[in-house]
Amino acid sequence: MSSHATAVQAPADPGRLPMTLPLLADMRRLREPIVMVTAYDYPSARAAQTAGVDLVLVGDSAATTVLGHSSTTPVSLEDMLVLARAVRRGLSTPLLIGDLPFGSYEVSDEQAIATAMRMVKEAGCEAVKLEGGGPTSVSRARAIVCAGIPVMGHVGLTPQTATALGGWKAQGRTAATAARIGEQALALQEAGCFALVFEAIPAAVTSELMPAMDIPVIGIGAGPDTDGQVLVFHDLLGIRDGLGARFVKRYASLQEEMNAGVAAYAADVRTRRYPGPEHTYSIDPSELAELHALLS
Ligand code: KIV
Repeated sequence: MSSHATAVQAPADPGRLPMTLPLLADMRRLREPIVMVTAYDYPSARAAQTAGVDLVLVGDSAATTVLGHSSTTPVSLEDMLVLARAVRRGLSTPLLIGDLPFGSYEVSDEQAIATAMRMVKEAGCEAVKLEGGGPTSVSRARAIVCAGIPVMGHVGLTPQTATALGGWKAQGRTAATAARIGEQALALQEAGCFALVFEAIPAAVTSELMPAMDIPVIGIGAGPDTDGQVLVFHDLLGIRDGLGARFVKRYASLQEEMNAGVAAYAADVRTRRYPGPEHTYSIDPSELAELHALLS
């Protein structure tokens, strides 16, 4: 029995149906683009909820976006659980997917099931995601699915193993490596994954692979032919220094706005422009006189 509090879910949104796996499969069948975004806390979850996205991923990209690491490998399961619980409180309709962090599922199928169960029981995730399509990842995906937890797979550029892949760069740019990504995608599909992420592969490779896929494929840097798209919250809103990967489209420049806002506040404090009379509390003059007498 866990000592952690049960995850609290935001109240239902009367205007929208909660996303389910059958609804997701319908969207794919009807060719309705599926929208997925990452979130790491309550405000980002509320933004995703308000925008009406279909899928929210508490990505291990949290390591770089909110925890300040230079790669995704250092983030721990405990970190992910804290973030996922905060996201859970902000969501009612999107399907919530928790990323299994590096080191939390590779050792054995039993370790993978135990980790996935913690994401479900302690953070309220409805599904988990794991990276890679080699024999180990396929075995872990199958084991978690058999334990009753839906799994999203992830092939192409898999940041947890970027060093082994030769760095943070597009994958599948030769016939042989593209064919391997296709084999991995099929193996994960056969293992029972409900959906896949294709990351950083040529658009033309995606179009070659898509006809073999029977489950929704969500792309990030994989071109327009996937069933949906995912972007990292901080990338799409510009909460970062620099532009990020080639595939990122920026819809706001919030880091610049945050920098300017904090700088303006600091300048106001230093020049005593803040706080102004409108930011202060009043006291009845007779009470003030009495206080003055008490203190003198
Ligand atoms: O961790 C993450 O944000 C991801 C997405 C890029 C799919 O895995």
